[in-house]
Amino acid sequence: MIHSLGYLRFETAKLDEWRTFGTEVLGLVATTGPRDDALYLRMDEHAARFAFLPGETDRLLAAGWELPNRAAFRELVARIEAAGHAVKPGTPEEAADRRVEELAHVDDPNGNHLELYYGPALDHSPVVTPHAQRFVTGNLGLGHVVLSAADIEASYAFYTEVLGFRHRDSLRFPAATFGGPEGQMNWVRFLGCNPRHHSVALCEAPMPAAIFHFMLELETLDDVGRGLDRFNARQIPVAQSLGRHTNDKMVSFYAATPGGFQVEYGTDAILVDDATWSVKEITEDAYWGHAWNG
Ligand SMILES: [Fe+2]
Repeated sequence: MIHSLGYLRFETAKLDEWRTFGTEVLGLVATTGPRDDALYLRMDEHAARFAFLPGETDRLLAAGWELPNRAAFRELVARIEAAGHAVKPGTPEEAADRRVEELAHVDDPNGNHLELYYGPALDHSPVVTPHAQRFVTGNLGLGHVVLSAADIEASYAFYTEVLGFRHRDSLRFPAATFGGPEGQMNWVRFLGCNPRHHSVALCEAPMPAAIFHFMLELETLDDVGRGLDRFNARQIPVAQSLGRHTNDKMVSFYAATPGGFQVEYGTDAILVDDATWSVKEITEDAYWGHAWNG
């Protein structure tokens, strides 16, 4: 029922750093928006895929999920409420701020804030990216986001049974990664809502709402390689080296953002056909590469 990951909204204490990082390193396009004190970044015809609002901390304020139309939006809101979750209608002022027709607020079971909306306003002026790279978006949405899930079963049920995400695959990792007991394994659940392999992944971690990384997909390997050069030239820590994932087959690297979480910058991911897909467990996250640095 959900069409795609439409936008990400952040609070940041490092607006200037994000402006430089977002444009000069990631290659997004700074644009104007409803608030003069905020940073808005474009990557395609959507007016702004990213909004950074000045504040005290660095955190994800909301993941914006696009619905295809009003009927689908109303149906999903009703389904969430019927499942016992509180949905707060967005105000017309909030809709104007996001440049969408209508929105609603809901928290996932771990407190990650989601905004559901339809009817985003487009900006038809050319997207002139600083490094002439092109992002893979359109019906696949802006990329993907990885969120914390302290109670993985509750979050998994919410995203799949209530929001309608499709389970694509899973990965087990040592619970000790987040201070859990030795020998126990935790889950990452990869979930999709369109042919992109996953638009959200839920990481079982005993912590409040948090973003681990967002992913931007580039059209070519050269776009990713030139991006890696920009990170290296600025000595931005690369957290995982270039590698190819075993599930979405993406060739990517991971690096630090000013927000304290990471960005995955990649290309060449598969598209999923729900008619023939069946859920798998991957036992390694990469065929090669993706070596952890520090
Ligand atoms: Fe990722």
